[in-house]
Amino acid sequence: MAGKRTFTMIKPDAFEAGHSGAILKMIEEAGFKVVAMKATILSRELAGKFYEVHKERPFYQDLCAYMSSGPIFAAILEKDNAVDDFRKLIGATNPADAAEGTIRKLFATSIEANAVHGSDSDENASIEGNFFFSQFERVV
Ligand code: CMP
Repeated sequence: MAGKRTFTMIKPDAFEAGHSGAILKMIEEAGFKVVAMKATILSRELAGKFYEVHKERPFYQDLCAYMSSGPIFAAILEKDNAVDDFRKLIGATNPADAAEGTIRKLFATSIEANAVHGSDSDENASIEGNFFFSQFERVV
């Protein structure tokens, strides 16, 4: 059965441009509940750990530099079928390929600075949520 939680980050480009409020509004209006949230700045090292799965990819170093370049919001979201529904809401990784009305189509500026992250599986949603939040913090 599909899980009820996914993990997201509002990335430095969207945070810096002041799109966080509009993005959160879209997330809530799509039926997701924000059950944990924080503004934070990733160190280069932590960005590297978070994206370790991509460490052999040519874009890994740039991605880690970019993700540690400024503040982000990290959040755990709750909804039935959370992972798949959220990926539909945000659209394709490359905003040039993202469907009309999706968060990335509206707010992303490039394949790297693509406004938001969304977990790609229930397992990764749990791993990524635990990366940012302890059980103690998840009080909602
Ligand atoms: P995200 O969903 O956070 O997962 C991995 C990230 O790597 C992705 O969003 C993009 O920000 C980035 N990414 C993926 N593919 C590329 C690419 N071809 N070039 C640059 N960055 C990429």
